[in-house]
Amino acid sequence: MRATLVEIEGETTGTALYSMEWLRDRVRWHLDPDQATAAVLLAETPGGHVVGHTIVRRETEVNGAAFGLVSTTFVEPGARRQGSGEKLLLAGEHWFRQASLPSCCTWTSAANAKLIRLYEKHGYGIVDTQPEETTGTVMVKLHKWLNSRPGKS
Ligand SMILES: CC(C)(COP(=O)(O)OP(=O)(O)OC[C@H]1O[C@@H](n2cnc3c(N)ncnc32)[C@H](O)[C@@H]1OP(=O)(O)O)[C@@H](O)C(=O)NCCC(=O)NCCS
Repeated sequence: MRATLVEIEGETTGTALYSMEWLRDRVRWHLDPDQATAAVLLAETPGGHVVGHTIVRRETEVNGAAFGLVSTTFVEPGARRQGSGEKLLLAGEHWFRQASLPSCCTWTSAANAKLIRLYEKHGYGIVDTQPEETTGTVMVKLHKWLNSRPGKS
């Protein structure tokens, strides 16, 4: 998560946003079934070296409707453009379907062309744009219906 923040926000802001202790607690929070319905999914080489991860969780709208959220995704720079990001996204969608969630989404910087292209390739559309509270970075919400509703993104 720290590496993702540094890559997206730059070294100074990416390091200052959250302490390593907070980020470790955040992963533990996702792994505690009393706190969250979530999973940390890993991408590995055939030799078992972890080259990427994504964190997915069940969320609810204010009206109580459930949806899947991709909280974060990262692939090591040396392992990119080899399909790991795609595999992590598909594994996340599988987890959402297993949890009977009708739709899923993620938020990222409007400048994050790599992630936006990855998601658009898999049928996601931008449905919302908002400034991030702390940094003011323009964020976009990428959304997809998991049961292929005609005419919907
Ligand atoms: C975005 C990210 C996860 C992609 O991982 P990856 O393993 O390189 O992705 P893949 O090899 O599976 O690529 C799948 C698709 O993503 C898109 N993509 C990935 N890298 C891209 C790049 N450098 N430029 C343009 N499109 C890119 C393409 O559509 C690609 O499909 P294609 O190869 O048929 O063109 C990776 O670049 C990353 O970890 N970035 C930093 C972290 C980050 O931005 N996380 C999200 C923060 S919310």
